[in-house]
Amino acid sequence: MKPSQIDIDSFWLPHASSTGAAAVDLAFYAVYGVSVVAFVLVAGLAVLFAVRYRRRAGPDTAREATDHHTGLEITWTAVPVVVVLGLFALGLLGFIDQAVPPGEALEVQVTAERYLWSFTYPDGTRTVNELTVPVGRPVRLLMSSKDVLHSFFVPEFRVKQDIVPGRYTGMWFEPTRVMETTVLCTEYCGVGHSGMLAKVVVLEQKDFDRWLETGGGKPDLPPAELGRSLFSSLGCATCHSLDGTRIQGPSLKGVFGRQEALEGGGQVTVDENYLRESILYPQKKIVAGYPPVMPTFQGLVKDSQLDALIAFLKAAR
Ligand code: CUA
Repeated sequence: MKPSQIDIDSFWLPHASSTGAAAVDLAFYAVYGVSVVAFVLVAGLAVLFAVRYRRRAGPDTAREATDHHTGLEITWTAVPVVVVLGLFALGLLGFIDQAVPPGEALEVQVTAERYLWSFTYPDGTRTVNELTVPVGRPVRLLMSSKDVLHSFFVPEFRVKQDIVPGRYTGMWFEPTRVMETTVLCTEYCGVGHSGMLAKVVVLEQKDFDRWLETGGGKPDLPPAELGRSLFSSLGCATCHSLDGTRIQGPSLKGVFGRQEALEGGGQVTVDENYLRESILYPQKKIVAGYPPVMPTFQGLVKDSQLDALIAFLKAAR
């Protein structure tokens, strides 16, 4: 980070980049400030009293100390009550704001599954592991999970919400600057949890409109290059290495043309059709010794993107 980028917004926390961030940060710093004051007071008095009232030679005078003081008791009850209610009010204000999305919000459906994020826009555009939104406009996320608990967390926007299978959860934010950042899954969901990331891209409204018009498409690239970019953006690398390392799924190093033994017997030679089938219907032919955990990419990748992925895998040696 360049020194010029350091400002009060990012003193401890990531750069505050949404309209709701100020309220969250205020509540955080208020709780923090109160905690520091309480700690200094308690620890300071503990040390002071330990020194001042330590056991000394001579007659024991401790018994003569006051054992009740109504004023003191009222003070140490009333002051914390007021402070805690103040903190509650601060948190409540931010919470109410976060709980109700503005009417004009852009609604994006979010589907979480092990270990990828997919986003569906009102016009039907779908993306995987990439959430693109316009700046200065509220975005409402309607979120659901296909399998287990996940949690959607964008530190810069100060938003975090669990995603629970069998129900919808929602949240909203309004980005305040053009930027790129990361969505983190922040609920442990399995061995690929730490790799369950998506990119957030905030664009000017006109750039966003153009992005939506082109269906979130990438600029023209040679197929293998496009495939490399998809391999990374779709999160394939969370479970498939390209260097021969065994992770969750078979390594894809030199996969093309390989003979694979299948779970339940039989063999397959990896060709274009097997790769295509395995991306769209991953449970059909599982390589022996691997768990059947790959999600389907049906509806998430277009045919041209499948071609590109296959071109890339052919070249992965
Ligand atoms: Cu999904 Cu952790």
